[in-house]
Amino acid sequence: MKPYDIILKKRDGGKLSKEEIDFFVNGFTKGEIPDYQMSAFLMAIFLKGMDEVETRDITVSMTDSGDKMDLSDIDGIKVDKHSTGGVGDTTTLLIGPIVAAAGLKFAKMSGRGLGHTGGTVDKLEAIEGYRTSLTEKEFKDQVKKIGLAVISSTGDIAPADKKMYALRDVTATVDSIPLIAGSIMSKKLASGSDVILLDVKAGKGAFMKTVEDAKKLAEALVSIGNRAGKKTMAVITDMDQPLNTHIGNALEVKEVFETLSGEHKDSALREISVYLSANLIMMAGLAENLDKAIEIANDMIDSGKAKEKMRELLECQAGSSKSLDDPGLLPKAPVVMPVSLDVDGWIKEIDVLELGITARDLGAGRIKKEDSIDPAVGIVMNKRVGDKVSKGETIAYIHASSEDSAKEAIERLKKSLTISETEVEHKPLILGKVE
Ligand code: URA
Repeated sequence: MKPYDIILKKRDGGKLSKEEIDFFVNGFTKGEIPDYQMSAFLMAIFLKGMDEVETRDITVSMTDSGDKMDLSDIDGIKVDKHSTGGVGDTTTLLIGPIVAAAGLKFAKMSGRGLGHTGGTVDKLEAIEGYRTSLTEKEFKDQVKKIGLAVISSTGDIAPADKKMYALRDVTATVDSIPLIAGSIMSKKLASGSDVILLDVKAGKGAFMKTVEDAKKLAEALVSIGNRAGKKTMAVITDMDQPLNTHIGNALEVKEVFETLSGEHKDSALREISVYLSANLIMMAGLAENLDKAIEIANDMIDSGKAKEKMRELLECQAGSSKSLDDPGLLPKAPVVMPVSLDVDGWIKEIDVLELGITARDLGAGRIKKEDSIDPAVGIVMNKRVGDKVSKGETIAYIHASSEDSAKEAIERLKKSLTISETEVEHKPLILGKVE
């Protein structure tokens, strides 16, 4: 078998066999197939697509490229969730404590942000002392003890994905359904949970721009999961505006801590996190229907049980839970500037991609993988699509490392908004479900 022939076959729209896919993925992971041939292979897949069988085969090859976490010696139902990526999307940090407080085991391996999308590991590292790397034994012991651990994906889980994702990011081949499906599901299948919930984002701030494409991706993800014997479901949620009011690592953690303390009762972050947690609770069989499961998830927050679970997580992985009671201890930017508009009206659109890039350029994200990030900077956006705005009213705050970067971000934020003179409807957050 030769890499050239396989690239040619896919370039011309052919269907690849399992052996050909295995040969390519394994050869690349071992360093026997060079980056330039993998780049061409990825572009051929991007342009010609893969059918359901090929998509499943590439996922299995990627899963088998490394170690698999065996969680079978942990009692109880092990659940996992994954978001396809967005702006101000901190649901993991709420869902983990909610479902663990409800009695499930949440053994979560997360990633870092890249481009305009944030990553859970970067957010957790905004908490002083938080250890995102645990040994497998420490990770499993913690899940056994408190039902909850959130760590950085180890290099041994789906190493093919790590190498392929880095190339996709620089060869314009990220937003391909078979490649995203392989990337996400290889990590999920290697992570060892029994139940998998996928949050597939749709909108300008997501890799899938339309609900139709998000649905196709959700169907591919669910089919791979179910065929692998995992109970898998996907929810399609809106990413045409940021999910949190807070965008930026420490700022997003602050919103999570405040939510666990009973603030932000009507926020989009709480609504989606409760909905996703409820689906996990229901899939794990702890509630007979979704309404009951939503009640349980809400009660975990309102009773303070989820906050106490977060405290246990922080005590295990950060050595202290002081910032949970006093989010003011989280990193703070030296410059905080308010943003106001000089018109009255309703917010019709928020260019969420531009907002994500603005937060990244303030220092909240990376342009290159090796860049370091500033945990303190970001944006607090107090308005959502459909909200009324008045001339001179503070609609947002920029948290920046300098006045110049804050001023530039203010201009970009203002340009990212479309204001209507007539009333605009609020948009739904949950757009569909694939079971
Ligand atoms: N998230 C992933 O883990 N992989 C992708 O390809 C896209 C989003």
